Amino acid sequence: MVDVPKDLIDEIKKLEEHFTVDTAKLKEITEHFINELTKGLSVEGGSIPMNPTWCMAMPTGEEQGTFLALDMGGTNLRVCEIILTDQKSEFDIIQSKYRMPEELKTGDADELWEYVADCLQQFVEAHHPGENLDKMHLGFTFSYPATQDYIDHGVLQRWTKGFDISGVEGENVVPMFEAAIARRGVPIKLTALINDTTGTLIASAYTDTKMKIGCIFGTGCNAAYFENTGSIPKLAHMKLPPDTPMAINCEWGAFDNEHKVLPRTPYDIIIDKDSPRPGQQAFEKMIAGLYLGELFRLVLVNLHDNEGVHIFEGQNIDKLRKAYTLDSSFLSLVEEDPFENLSETADLFQNKLSISPNRSELELIRRLAELIGTRAARLSACGVAAIAKKKGYESCHVGADGSVFNKYPHFKQRGAQALREILDWPEKKNQKEEDPIEILAAEDGSGVGAALIAALTLQRVKDGNMAGILHPENFK
Ligand code: BGC
Repeated sequence: MVDVPKDLIDEIKKLEEHFTVDTAKLKEITEHFINELTKGLSVEGGSIPMNPTWCMAMPTGEEQGTFLALDMGGTNLRVCEIILTDQKSEFDIIQSKYRMPEELKTGDADELWEYVADCLQQFVEAHHPGENLDKMHLGFTFSYPATQDYIDHGVLQRWTKGFDISGVEGENVVPMFEAAIARRGVPIKLTALINDTTGTLIASAYTDTKMKIGCIFGTGCNAAYFENTGSIPKLAHMKLPPDTPMAINCEWGAFDNEHKVLPRTPYDIIIDKDSPRPGQQAFEKMIAGLYLGELFRLVLVNLHDNEGVHIFEGQNIDKLRKAYTLDSSFLSLVEEDPFENLSETADLFQNKLSISPNRSELELIRRLAELIGTRAARLSACGVAAIAKKKGYESCHVGADGSVFNKYPHFKQRGAQALREILDWPEKKNQKEEDPIEILAAEDGSGVGAALIAALTLQRVKDGNMAGILHPENFK
């Protein structure tokens, strides 16, 4: 960065101080995380919800049957039909994707459920035209924090990922969904309400027995893993044998809502304050795809308006002033710019924002994207390390999915490096060597995972285990 003027270099240094999380801090965060996971399982609870899911077994690979799956994610709505075949760990899938219209995310509850039911109806009619179907078993992936007293029941604790639809928080979402379905006569019965992380864990374990943790690093972020009920004091009243396995949807996005350890910058504070749910999802707001572009934007606007340097001097930055105008794919493109002179980044700024950064500003932009992306990956690793340490997993696989994990440049390597630092692994002898804990691309959690959880639940009901079943008639 020889050509960058001193005042810009000073700004870059300040940003580095703000956004860098060193090894000691990663370790401190991880230790606090372990305590918070435990607290979330206690009767008193903590800020991480640690929701029991009533998914009570790992798949064997021998599961079979035909299932529907519906995934109401942060960005898309997807409907699938999955056939778990008689070949071990094999499946066939057909699917349709529908965009989740932006206005629905802040609209009213009826419109949401009508839209969801509509997509499902379209799918069934397209793939089974004119057939007189028996009710099919459906796994519904609802990727928001929901307390589940039963697997076919889920009370939304609060919306995350920018959703803000009134009349749903504090309510059981299953009857709302079922009413919309019934109005259309779609032939389904809800067999499992699941979280995308639990789906990811189960789908990944279907093909890889070393899988112990499922994670999503996408629009939101979260993880799931198995506990024994003996380690879940808040389930003691159920009087289940203490060695009964139970998948836990951590909802770790809520980690450190009380701001004890996370190194928040002034920009993180603004993101939180201006979000629909201030004070919630502190960890998620530093990591998830929904927020990375917004963090980047806030820094650039501040450097234009307030700091001594006044980047983009004399230019109209109105487009950049619009909140949430940049998503994480914009940052990905900046980080991927292969050219020494960052000409692709310059084109991006011109085309998207009508701003022409000079050469030094381009250097700052690139460094800022690296800092934000690196911080997200390193903080994510703290959550994975915390679960692994709590459970005593010295070696395992972690299945991860989501746009940030799959598409953000260097996210995987940066996360792996942070895990190495937190867990004090020696340097690798060669690049081919596996890390003791590897975070790998997961199998399709909200499709195959949802089908598997439905299949596993039907099987255990058949075997007489009715724990966490509200409507036994749906499990035949
Ligand atoms: C939600 C979780 C979900 C995660 C990833 C978070 O905002 O609260 O339920 O697993 O996003 O989609």
